[in-house]
Amino acid sequence: MKNVLLVLAHPDSQSLNAQLLSVAQEELQAQGHTVVVSDLYAKNWKAVYDERDFPNRLDETRLSFVAESGHAYRNHTQPSDIVEEQAKLMAADAVVFQFPLWWFGMPAIMKGWIERVFAYGLAYGYRDEGNRFRYGEGGLQGKRAVLSVTVGGPESDYTPRGINGQLEELLFPITHGTLFFSGMEVLPTFAAYDVHRLDVHDIEHTKAALRARMRSLFDDAAIAYRTQNGGEYPDRHILADEIARGCTGLGVHLR
Ligand SMILES: Cc1cc2nc3c(=O)[nH]c(=O)nc-3n(C[C@H](O)[C@H](O)[C@H](O)COP(=O)(O)O)c2cc1C
Repeated sequence: MKNVLLVLAHPDSQSLNAQLLSVAQEELQAQGHTVVVSDLYAKNWKAVYDERDFPNRLDETRLSFVAESGHAYRNHTQPSDIVEEQAKLMAADAVVFQFPLWWFGMPAIMKGWIERVFAYGLAYGYRDEGNRFRYGEGGLQGKRAVLSVTVGGPESDYTPRGINGQLEELLFPITHGTLFFSGMEVLPTFAAYDVHRLDVHDIEHTKAALRARMRSLFDDAAIAYRTQNGGEYPDRHILADEIARGCTGLGVHLR
């Protein structure tokens, strides 16, 4: 049995997001997993990453977030709310992020959870080696992650030629640039579209689909992002010429 952390970014307990979180929690518990929830609005999570996060500064004259993050993490001088969330994160075998799509991304409170919790030395700068371990390797390696997103627009807007662009591409900064960067295996996003138009039947269908995804959380294939150190980026920066020759764009980083 596994440990799963559910992170929720919605202040209303009646919202579809809160309902989906409950469904995920119930299903995971029914599978015998241990579930911990971080309900960010309920805990009045401090979203803004600022100087208050570094009470014991390396350099008082200039706030270098990366340097101070590593210093605070190493020296155990991080604020207690960050330490608590890091403990939950490190205990988790999988993390589910439940949020409404706001301006093609996650609500600020959840972005702020990542900014403050994913410290240098933990989620990046692993072993104090800069970018030596990233994209498939790093402090969060061995954990799974999945985004569960409610979307106002219709699914057609998010199809390959849809006006918004494909949802998985829009979420690339989170799935690839944050979670895979830190070493996590990222599962395909679970999305509920057109959510303001869902009737009772549609909502039940959505909940059933999320339950199914939670049942296969530890079996589903992860998104096949290329790893930094697997040989496809010979200098650790640029994809080898012979791979996806002539292609550019985000899709080249997928096997
Ligand atoms: C600030 C804000 C930004 C939004 N941005 C988007 C967006 O980029 N794309 C979209 O399809 N819907 C967008 N929406 C609609 C939300 O995705 C939708 O209201 C939400 O998923 C509903 O979930 P809830 O009922 O749990 O609040 C936005 C809504 C708000 C309030």
